[in-house]
Amino acid sequence: MTKLAPVLSAHWDEKDSFTLEAYKRHGGYKASEKALAMDPDAVIQLVKDSGLRGRGGAGFPTGMKWGFIPQGDNKDHYLVVNADESEPGTCKDTPLLMANPHVLIEGCIIACHAIRAKHAFIYIRGEVTHVVRRVNQAIADAYAAGILGNGVDVVLHIGAGAYICGEETALLDSLEGFRGQPRLRPPFPAIAGLYARPTVVNNVESISSVPAIVMNGAEWYQSMGTEKSKGTTLYSLSGHVVNPGQFEAPLGITLREILELSGGVRKGHKLKFWTPGGSSTPLFTDEHLDVPLDYEGVAAAGSMLGTKALQIFDETTCVVRAVLRWTEFYKHESCGKCTPCREGTWWLVQILRDLEAGKGTEADLAKLLDLCDNIMGRSFCALGDGATSPITSSIKYFRDEYIAHLTNGGCPFDPVASTLFVGAGA
Ligand SMILES: Cc1cc2nc3c(=O)[nH]c(=O)nc-3n(C[C@H](O)[C@H](O)[C@H](O)COP(=O)(O)O)c2cc1C
Repeated sequence: MTKLAPVLSAHWDEKDSFTLEAYKRHGGYKASEKALAMDPDAVIQLVKDSGLRGRGGAGFPTGMKWGFIPQGDNKDHYLVVNADESEPGTCKDTPLLMANPHVLIEGCIIACHAIRAKHAFIYIRGEVTHVVRRVNQAIADAYAAGILGNGVDVVLHIGAGAYICGEETALLDSLEGFRGQPRLRPPFPAIAGLYARPTVVNNVESISSVPAIVMNGAEWYQSMGTEKSKGTTLYSLSGHVVNPGQFEAPLGITLREILELSGGVRKGHKLKFWTPGGSSTPLFTDEHLDVPLDYEGVAAAGSMLGTKALQIFDETTCVVRAVLRWTEFYKHESCGKCTPCREGTWWLVQILRDLEAGKGTEADLAKLLDLCDNIMGRSFCALGDGATSPITSSIKYFRDEYIAHLTNGGCPFDPVASTLFVGAGA
């Protein structure tokens, strides 16, 4: 059985884990010393060799992304850290930043050295005020200790709280002071990103994984995980479980194993459906308990690893209600730039509301799938695609439950016994 393997989360249980003192006590800022003594290209090669893949959802190889930054171009280069974290169910960057903000700052110093950047911007979701305060304090402490300001500056930018601003190009527009809407690519950020300069955009967890790789080497990182998904990662377990929270394990662990290690589904209940990577990834059911939770394993089973946000729903949950709630979120967060997403998500909500209330007909299910087909792959960015995932997958696995709403003239679930879906919003 795969075991939990705390690397990023190794000292989270210590009361002062977020302080500079505690970080240094555990060897903090030794990795950046080591990296700064290395040739920047050697740092990029090390990260490439480690097999680290972006933890923001798409799993793009981090070292390869850094390698795309043109060299000798006499332009400023930028590192942008994506700390927007707004996907329903995704809650790993927030605890990471609360427990250990210095590991991100150290990762920024190393990444800036590798891509020859002098400035790193951390774009953080504005609603998480406690995290903003914590990261601000850590940055101030790093400046006071002379860790920052000697070649690398870090700026914390507070977003207004829009899911779309997690999409990397919308994030760049927002950072520049414009309304956050995705940009047409190419050019990609590596060529023309922030202020039209070569820019790397990486997730908090991706950059925070770098110091340990520099300290322990690529082989150490390669030794954990599966063939193409290396290292450890933070799985966020939420919903109808005994112990929700972060569980750091090598990539490839299964949900069955995580549930066994964490206390399982709440007593007296059984798993009905779950998301492997947040609400924009197709649902799984109890048939998928043994799917390896790595990029390839989840894709082969018809979903996506995404942000590894494991939202667990037991048999008391109405799947139609849960999917409606998620769809309302995507409709609300659609930035309006493209028609398929702006109009499509609005119509998805109208039809789902009717279906949930038992007002539609079976033909509405076909209409819903047709709408999804017109959004998927036709939207300007992946927000639209993500909005269709819970709908198409829930109809695939729970068509009978949709029909039951129609024959019952409303939701067949007992509203008292059912805990339904709370806390879905950003
Ligand atoms: C609608 C939308 C929201 C996103 N939100 C986030 C987010 O909050 N955090 C994040 O790191 N990536 C988010 N992404 C993915 C980013 O566009 C980008 O792929 C990621 O920041 C790259 O970092 P990585 O290579 O380290 O994973 C989002 C993408 C989309 C389409």
